Amino acid sequence: MEGLMLEILEDQGYEQAAHLYDLFDRKQNVPFFCHYAGQVNTVLDVGAGTGRVAFPMAEAGTHVVCIEPSPGMRTQLESKLAKRPELSELVTIVPDAAATFKLARTYPLAILSGSFDHFLNMQERLASLYNIAQHLQPGGLLVFDVFLGLMQSSPLSPAGYVQYEGREYRRMVGSQALDNGQIQVTLLFEVYEEGRLIQSIEQQSWTSTVTYEEIHRILVETGFKVKGEFADYEFTPYYPEAALLVVEAICEK
Ligand SMILES: C[S@@+](CC[C@H](N)C(=O)[O-])C[C@H]1O[C@@H](n2cnc3c(N)ncnc32)[C@H](O)[C@@H]1O
Repeated sequence: MEGLMLEILEDQGYEQAAHLYDLFDRKQNVPFFCHYAGQVNTVLDVGAGTGRVAFPMAEAGTHVVCIEPSPGMRTQLESKLAKRPELSELVTIVPDAAATFKLARTYPLAILSGSFDHFLNMQERLASLYNIAQHLQPGGLLVFDVFLGLMQSSPLSPAGYVQYEGREYRRMVGSQALDNGQIQVTLLFEVYEEGRLIQSIEQQSWTSTVTYEEIHRILVETGFKVKGEFADYEFTPYYPEAALLVVEAICEK
């Protein structure tokens, strides 16, 4: 894609609290993505984060190439990998973003778990899926989830409480719809020891909403054909008004 100008923010939303990501993430989508990874020998995990999905895929014997732009998330991924030497041959980390990574081979499968929502405008969505298509084999599969629900401004409210190694972690989440169509999400983490607040971390993150019709247009423009569409990670067929869209698309080159 020529003339690509993407705005890269220094902190795209994960640098302050990457070490707390796994504590709070309870998304039940690991078996879903492992279902696809189990059918291939290598998978591109685009926006792999801390490796929440990448590690189970590697544990099942699939090579995983983790594309991850956030230094904070990569640090978590690297330190988890350092503790799992038996997986070192199976997990590769590439510090880059979906629209810009360049690898010298193609793959049978690419997944995006929770990362498509971070493509902040149509240009970035098109550039990202176009670049992923360049890295897929003909007939290769792209599987990704995207939030289609209405994102409205909402005040900071409690969104999680975890006890871990003698400390209590509380999370609050609020969001603000911006004029440019993006959503600015504020995450506030509080860490308590023996009932006393010892640390407070604020993290800003940005996402953007997209419509079902736009997703289809992007897929056609970047050379994909939709094979399946689900409303959850249990393979329930997608239905209009579902807030989650999970797409299975074939690379048609
Ligand atoms: C919600 S987290 C999901 C992490 C992991 N896939 C999971 O399911 O736990 C979103 C991830 O996407 C990454 N990300 C954000 N913008 C990205 C981009 N343009 N290209 C690739 N990854 C991106 C973030 O750094 C973050 O690690």
